[in-house]
Amino acid sequence: MNVPYFDLTAQYRSLRQEILGALDRVCSHAAFVLGEEVARFEEEFAAYCETKYCVALNSGTSALHVALLAAGVQPGDEVITTANTFIATAEAISYTGAVPVFVDIDPRTANLDPSRVEAAITSRTKVILPVHLYGRPVDWEPLAAIAERHRVMMIEDACQAHGARYRGRRIGGLGRAAAFSFYPGKNLGAYGEGGALTTNDEQMAQLARALRDHGQTTRYRHDVIGFNYRMDGFQGAVLRVKLKHLGEWTAKRQEWANRYRQLLTGAPVGLPEDDPQSECVYHLFVAYVENRDKVRKKLEARGVQTAIHYPRPVHLQPAYASRGYPPGSLPCTEAACERVVSLPLFPEMTAEQVEYAAEALVEVAELVQGR
Ligand SMILES: Cc1ncc(COP(=O)(O)O)c(C=O)c1O
Repeated sequence: MNVPYFDLTAQYRSLRQEILGALDRVCSHAAFVLGEEVARFEEEFAAYCETKYCVALNSGTSALHVALLAAGVQPGDEVITTANTFIATAEAISYTGAVPVFVDIDPRTANLDPSRVEAAITSRTKVILPVHLYGRPVDWEPLAAIAERHRVMMIEDACQAHGARYRGRRIGGLGRAAAFSFYPGKNLGAYGEGGALTTNDEQMAQLARALRDHGQTTRYRHDVIGFNYRMDGFQGAVLRVKLKHLGEWTAKRQEWANRYRQLLTGAPVGLPEDDPQSECVYHLFVAYVENRDKVRKKLEARGVQTAIHYPRPVHLQPAYASRGYPPGSLPCTEAACERVVSLPLFPEMTAEQVEYAAEALVEVAELVQGR
């Protein structure tokens, strides 16, 4: 059997008529940049995230950048984050001239470890920027308590966590602002680049709206130096169609993740822990294995495609070398990156594919460990 890591074509086949109709609406109104579809999407996505405001942008990276600027982050400030993430989290901090301060993860969740954060706070700390990695909410309350004690802001990197809940509260409304990505492979993916900032803070929403559009507040009045970070009309239209299906797709992801968990019980494979009071939306289903590269090769030979998120933590990337984080400085992050493997997971998978992939992993992991 072949189990692709990921397949977006099946989803398109099921949505084709709706998508083509939505794209036609954009063309008919020539609303190619921002426009009605984007404005409606903003309302709908804000409602979905249970936040007052949503500002649509052209990527998750620009959403992070705008969120940090709107939070007042300036050159020389420090922003505490994780190195177990896609590099964009750190890049957005660097774009502002601030310094990313990397704190190690909790190996049980792969997310920023709240118990290590307070020691990293200095007089220059402006923001704590945790990532809800793989769709799993970070342990928010202890982080928020630290932020409050030290009067620093919290911003969420929610790029992988559309619809997740932390103890009943939707991701996207926990911090002062949150950044989402709609990169095509995300749980809610556009047909190109896309992103959004959500917030309950009116001023922040207004500033974000200006920053995404060259600092424009009214036509040709530019109050701040901004960017061209606008979402295009096609993406707004596609996202509106897809948002209606997100609930059912998330339920499927969770069903497949639970099935993987059952089938991997007892195997020489580690899995991140879920907080029973929170809701993980499983952007990715990752496992931890010894001899990861060997395991992946053997899975590939059995028709099971896998991926790695992420093979090298941000602090060990050449771009961030010589920033004071040599190998060994974030041991839990580094250990996770050496062992992590992402299994096939997308809503349109079949139960047979999940079972086949899980059984193949059990066999291969046992073989490689000589059990
Ligand atoms: C955790 C995380 N942060 C930020 C980003 C950046 O989003 P985008 O690719 O839309 O710029 C991504 C997307 O890959 C991500 O996974």
